[in-house]
Amino acid sequence: MSVGWMDGYSTLITGGGTGIGRAVAERFLAEGASVTVFGRRQEQLDEVVNAAAQPERVHTVVGDVRDSDRLHTAVTETVERFGKLDTLVANAGVWDYQRPLTRLAAKELDATFNELFSINVKGYLLSAEAAWQELVKTRGSIVMTLSNASFYVNGGGPLYTASKHACLGLMKELAYELAPKVRVNGVACGGMNTDLRGPESLDLAERSISASFAKKGPATPPPLIPLHDSSTDPRDFTASYVLLAARDQSGPITGQAISVDGGIGVRGFARAAGGDDL
Ligand SMILES: NC(=O)c1ccc[n+]([C@@H]2O[C@H](COP(=O)([O-])OP(=O)(O)OC[C@H]3O[C@@H](n4cnc5c(N)ncnc54)[C@H](O)[C@@H]3O)[C@@H](O)[C@H]2O)c1
Repeated sequence: MSVGWMDGYSTLITGGGTGIGRAVAERFLAEGASVTVFGRRQEQLDEVVNAAAQPERVHTVVGDVRDSDRLHTAVTETVERFGKLDTLVANAGVWDYQRPLTRLAAKELDATFNELFSINVKGYLLSAEAAWQELVKTRGSIVMTLSNASFYVNGGGPLYTASKHACLGLMKELAYELAPKVRVNGVACGGMNTDLRGPESLDLAERSISASFAKKGPATPPPLIPLHDSSTDPRDFTASYVLLAARDQSGPITGQAISVDGGIGVRGFARAAGGDDL
């Protein structure tokens, strides 16, 4: 039997029932880990168990990342069931559908700031608070889902972009504070075809980013990034999570973000890719 990069690891993934969280859960399982998936809807979490070749390696905990008690329960149950905690993936989040400042009334701005920041930023912080003591015991690590919006404009509106920049800062600060025992890194994902939703306060909780991918059609390449044929399937974004979680592979890496975004940082001015004619 081949040995994966995360053989025997015990992991906890927030927002693990759908999208990149679920793809990471399935990849971690394939790499030999056990996984606790934490999310708001039991039926989504159950799908991860039902799809697993070895369902006994999956545990589910329903909860909201704004609720510290549920996150502590998730850590406790993970340790009870799998004996320890090696990896926390802080991932649950919502998008603002690029709503610009000029289309946000003061009241909406107030409510949506509180909702979006409490999920995207406070949720990561509360998850880290619940997990760090167990991670110290295993010399484990935290991997945060970051975004192109952690570095560049227009991946969201001001609220989402500010929240993902805040997560980048949080990742770096925790990398300092938890060193040398716990490493903290991030994966800055570009556009993925997932079930990413909007804030309830903007009436966007039922809207899914997958609808915009369906409109474009699977054959339409994203023209604005250098790697035009870059995948938007979340499964193709998971290898960096494995690399950063696996202490034998990335032991000296902390405080870093790997951008998995088709090369946004090397985009040209006249055209995105310099080698279109090659
Ligand atoms: N889809 C993209 O294009 C994209 C790009 C870059 C970064 N991201 C980031 O990826 C992460 C995962 O999003 P996704 O694209 O997989 O979308 P998704 O909606 O499929 O996954 C997010 C998960 O988080 C859960 N969640 C949301 N709010 C929660 C809360 N308060 N408590 C507990 N769970 C909650 C959702 O139920 C869902 O299961 C987010 O942090 C998002 O900002 C997404």
